[in-house]
Amino acid sequence: MIEAGEEAVRRGAEILSAGGLVAFPTETVYGLGADATDDAAVGRIFGVKGRPTADPLIVHLPSIREAARWGELGVGRGDGLRLAREFWPGPLTLVVPRRPGLSDLVGKGLATVGLRVPAHPVALELLRATDGPVAAPSANRFGRVSPTTAGHVVDELGDRIDLVIDGGSCPLGVESTVVILGEDPPQLLRPGGLVVEDLRSVVPDLVVPDGEAGPPEAPAVSPGTMLAHYAPSVPLTLVDARRTVTVELLAAVRAEGLEVVELRLPDDPVEAAGILYSALRGLDSGGGELALATALDGTGLGRAVNDRLFRAAHGHVVSECDADSVGRILARVRSR
Ligand code: TXA
Ligand code: MG
Repeated sequence: MIEAGEEAVRRGAEILSAGGLVAFPTETVYGLGADATDDAAVGRIFGVKGRPTADPLIVHLPSIREAARWGELGVGRGDGLRLAREFWPGPLTLVVPRRPGLSDLVGKGLATVGLRVPAHPVALELLRATDGPVAAPSANRFGRVSPTTAGHVVDELGDRIDLVIDGGSCPLGVESTVVILGEDPPQLLRPGGLVVEDLRSVVPDLVVPDGEAGPPEAPAVSPGTMLAHYAPSVPLTLVDARRTVTVELLAAVRAEGLEVVELRLPDDPVEAAGILYSALRGLDSGGGELALATALDGTGLGRAVNDRLFRAAHGHVVSECDADSVGRILARVRSR
């Protein structure tokens, strides 16, 4: 069921053309692919993931030319084409008006489609070998941490999919950056592997909404950006302060008799992104009752890492070590 190499790619393309589901590596995370023009195949993605059909899928293509068949990259001021030329193949998803031919289930009720040309060689080979667009969300069950190894995919989805193509660990470790284009200046919908600083070199007036996500029940422009995504089963609190504060909080919570673990990430945001999802998965098997993580400096890839930590923590953030913060951390565990 897990296979690697050229033969696996060839078989993957066959399975996709026959309406099956194939998990494959990208430079960000593993995707769960299906023929984006096939209603039944796309429907199976939602079933296997347990994902609400209101949450649209990204369509993957091997080139700008192929992408332009399915969406209007040149919409509005033409930023989409400029971004595609600069950053594809790469960790960038462009949301543009859709063209006919895709399954409606790719973005139920939406006039737009998210398009991406990934940079991973195995993903590109698979897309070239497949005759058509490939819809692929991250290959995890809905609301859970995205997989960055073939083993994670099997842990998440087991034998409910037809093939997992093993391409090793995903180099970036966080999902693509999602940008929506239209008549107005482009807007960031999800921070990700392509950093805002780089996007701004092409689109200086990119609209970047404030860091904090809305409450879980708020209707989201980009449904997959809802809160409580990426959640480990151990309740996590994000400490938005220097790590010394986290160390003090760990001691204070331990003094209350609780087994608290630290989700410790490297200070370097590139390294932190690379291990983030493995570290979040590790929490589930680590045996603690609760966990604390320190937010990174929010520049570069730190923006995406902080976004995922914030969601993994269900928006639960403290910024100092005082009685109130400790009380809030404890209340969270005791209410479970
Ligand atoms: O790196 C990635 O983007 C990975 C790999 C496999 O390519 N895919 C991924 O897919 O993360 P998924 O489904 O887990 O996240 C897709 C995000 C969601 O937040 C979804 O709401 C948003 O993209 N999205 C897709 N199409 C959209 C559209 N037409 N309008 C607004 N948001 C859209
Ligand atoms: Mg996902």
